[in-house]
Amino acid sequence: QPLTADKLSAQKDGYRFFMEKEIYEQSYVMSETIMGRVLADRIVLDELDDAFFEGINAIKICACGTSYHSALTSAYLFERIAKIRCDVEIASEFRYKEPLLSDDTLFITISQSGETADTLEALKMAKRAGLKSLSICNVDNSSIVRESDAAILTRAGIEKGVASTKAFATQTMVLWILALYMGQEKQSIPAEVLKNEIDAILHIPKALVVTDTLHAKLTRLSKRYLHGHGFFFIGRDIFFPLALEGALKLKEISYLHAEGYPAGEMKHGPIALADSDLFTVALMPKTMHYDKIKSNVEELSARDATILAISPEPFELADDFIQTQYASHPMLEFFEMMVVTQLLALEISVRLGNDVDMPRNLAKSVTVE
Ligand code: AGP
Repeated sequence: QPLTADKLSAQKDGYRFFMEKEIYEQSYVMSETIMGRVLADRIVLDELDDAFFEGINAIKICACGTSYHSALTSAYLFERIAKIRCDVEIASEFRYKEPLLSDDTLFITISQSGETADTLEALKMAKRAGLKSLSICNVDNSSIVRESDAAILTRAGIEKGVASTKAFATQTMVLWILALYMGQEKQSIPAEVLKNEIDAILHIPKALVVTDTLHAKLTRLSKRYLHGHGFFFIGRDIFFPLALEGALKLKEISYLHAEGYPAGEMKHGPIALADSDLFTVALMPKTMHYDKIKSNVEELSARDATILAISPEPFELADDFIQTQYASHPMLEFFEMMVVTQLLALEISVRLGNDVDMPRNLAKSVTVE
């Protein structure tokens, strides 16, 4: 009896956890997400009719949890690539405020499950206000997809681990593609820039490949991070939402306290926490403000914080160092560092003996308030 895709997804295929399998699947599912949408010299999104962006001059995105982090990441991309204003709100906050909404705003919701109560309610509020809606979702025919004017599916396959991994990766990719598509449609992106972005996109599946060397190194070094008075994950620009996501992954499955923080903000208070028991995971890309992040990390190191640096560039002040391979494009660095933070959370959780796939107190989809 041939195995259906669902039955395949229901198996761990030799991995210890669904989450581990889903981290390893990211390279493959990313190719599915890109398929038919990113061509050699242009972006195609059949889900959107030609006039979809007519009259749109701003974007508002609402989401929760990990989906909120992909939303925050995309705000940098929409403004930098599509030259369109983009603001992001946590759905449970948005739904209880009196939002000022202008009808030239495209309201985007992001949801793996398509059933998150807060996000669905935020979408209904925007529709009542007459806004055009678009959902980025992993489940076709879900409530959020059905409620939206249009939907772009992430094609990540069934995600069984409560801690989201491949859904976050494919959401971020779809949003990057959407930003490029908007730039292309508005003719606000020069052909050679578009080509450079497309080249980077086509390399992403390779950047997501988990090597035995990387996994073994993270398994080894994770033993040093099982105590202490908490973690900071720090980054700048798109690496700030990635820092938030890395902190959430760790919290969710290790139950250790972790906080994602803008690297430039540490000196405005949090650096008071710096001592050898403060673990700082520093995202130090070469292609995005490297000198700035380097000096932020040096300030922490000078106060004896324990630093785990992730960078293509060796950083001798680090107590632990993961050398990444890609240093040619911010998004290649983003996705490669994302895998490192996912594996770090996984291996710390394993050492603590937690149920990686079903962390305490959590549900895969929060369908109630
Ligand atoms: C992610 O690891 C969490 N499990 C959680 O934050 C999740 O992202 C959030 O509940 C939103 O879920 P959704 O994407 O299905 O809307």
